[in-house]
Amino acid sequence: MRIFSGIQPTGRKHLGNYIGAIRQYVEGQDRGDAVYCVVDLHATTVPYEPAELRRYVLDTTAMMLAAELDPDRCILFRQSDVREHTELCWLLCSVTAHGDLNRMHQFREKSARQRELISAGLFFYPVLQAADILAYRTDEVPVGDDQRQHIELTRDIAERFNERFGDTLKVPRHRIPEVGARIMDLQSPEQKMSTTAASEQGTIYVTDPEAAVVKKVKSAVTDSGAEVVRAPDKPGISNLIEVLAVVRGSDPGEIEDEFHGARYGDFKQAVAHEVIAYLAPVRERYDELRGDEDRLEAILRDGAEKARNIASEVLEDVRARMGVGSSP
Ligand code: TYM
Repeated sequence: MRIFSGIQPTGRKHLGNYIGAIRQYVEGQDRGDAVYCVVDLHATTVPYEPAELRRYVLDTTAMMLAAELDPDRCILFRQSDVREHTELCWLLCSVTAHGDLNRMHQFREKSARQRELISAGLFFYPVLQAADILAYRTDEVPVGDDQRQHIELTRDIAERFNERFGDTLKVPRHRIPEVGARIMDLQSPEQKMSTTAASEQGTIYVTDPEAAVVKKVKSAVTDSGAEVVRAPDKPGISNLIEVLAVVRGSDPGEIEDEFHGARYGDFKQAVAHEVIAYLAPVRERYDELRGDEDRLEAILRDGAEKARNIASEVLEDVRARMGVGSSP
């Protein structure tokens, strides 16, 4: 079974990325043939600094390794090193509906926030994402809940391609965790935790020092009630319950039972303590790994070569089916 996922090199990764996605990447190495990509081309769809982008790719690569992705057990590479992605993106445009792209929530949110140029890249972002996935004949895509619509679109694109040009592309399915698929901002628990949209105080970064984690969890916005239970009108507490369940590897119901009658302060104390214990080894490994840039580059280069071997074959099929290029 082929597993594929991508992650943006947006500098610091947060607890939402870790719980929603990275945790699943690690586990994917044991379940299948896992391919993971640091999507630098996607990061060019909003304003960015070229030198920073290079650094952020290495930050994200070190983070993935710190989370225990093992280059001997998965393929880890930089998107722009495998040019098949951009070519496939263009080819897939012919079977992508403009109206579908216009309906993408992420495009709508990001373009509404954009004060500078709203690039055409932002509009085509989901087609490039579909190309990432389809270039590897992917069965399963581990992602957080916010990527659901993009994966649905990827399926539509693959199905339309196959109808139009004959059976060529594998139609993938998403893998969204049952608990922790949508970690919310601690200060505005009606918004997802995010590097760009939400608040600094409400976002726990994987590399945050312990004192910062304690402060952020203790000042998390909750409701005026007193019960540690999940409920629609208790988004703050519900979020912390999910976080604690995931970092403990238990069930949200068990957390509710255990903290029945407990005060919010004591509950938050436990959450802070266990989040710190969960992230500490990752942070330590990250600090060790990030310094050796030559090694990080070598891992990415190696990964790109392996990825290209797979993607180039798929591209040959796609080109042949579409009547593009010299005859095969
Ligand atoms: P990115 O880099 O924004 O996020 C990486 C992963 O983290 C998940 N995630 C969350 N999960 C739970 N709670 C949150 N608050 C939270 N915030 C983010 C995301 O769902 C994602 O799985 N478009 C993708 C990158 C991409 C990709 C791909 C993904 C490009 N090509 C191909 C899968 C397959 C993105 O922006 O991820």
